[in-house]
Amino acid sequence: MERPDDDVPLGGWPPEDEPREVTRRTFLLLGMGTIGGLLALAYAGLGLRYLWPPSQAKIELEDVGSSDEFKVGDPPVLKVTHNQGSEGGAWIVRLKDEGLVAYDMHCTHLQCPYTWAGTSFSCPCHGSAFDIHGNVIHPPAPRPLRRRLVVEEGGRVKVGGIIS
Ligand code: FES
Repeated sequence: MERPDDDVPLGGWPPEDEPREVTRRTFLLLGMGTIGGLLALAYAGLGLRYLWPPSQAKIELEDVGSSDEFKVGDPPVLKVTHNQGSEGGAWIVRLKDEGLVAYDMHCTHLQCPYTWAGTSFSCPCHGSAFDIHGNVIHPPAPRPLRRRLVVEEGGRVKVGGIIS
């Protein structure tokens, strides 16, 4: 459609009652721009979450049993939790010197679930081992077990998110 030099309608060009043509190029540019914008927003969200991660300690406490289940000298007990819809867990043990502690159930090497092997925690994936205080006694785990918030209220033990 050619634009006439004179007699331009007041509503602009092309007149509103005539459909505008969307070329393939315009359509592709709009589509790529939209996808690029969404990706930029997603990366910005991830960046903000990395810079200001949500506090794990504020995860709702979950009741994992009676205080009587955890006595000094007893072996650690694995309790499965379902915080925020995802299944997790903590090894809970009452230590003579520290009281009740909860270790996140995932190895600090590559996140495999580990087990209690009688005298230490043992990871089946690459052989890491941790003592009863969560310290590394056999690498490749680079750091001690992560601890989760654990509290006793009214004779019940409750576990929260990772605190260290
Ligand atoms: S994940 Fe536990 S040793 Fe590698």
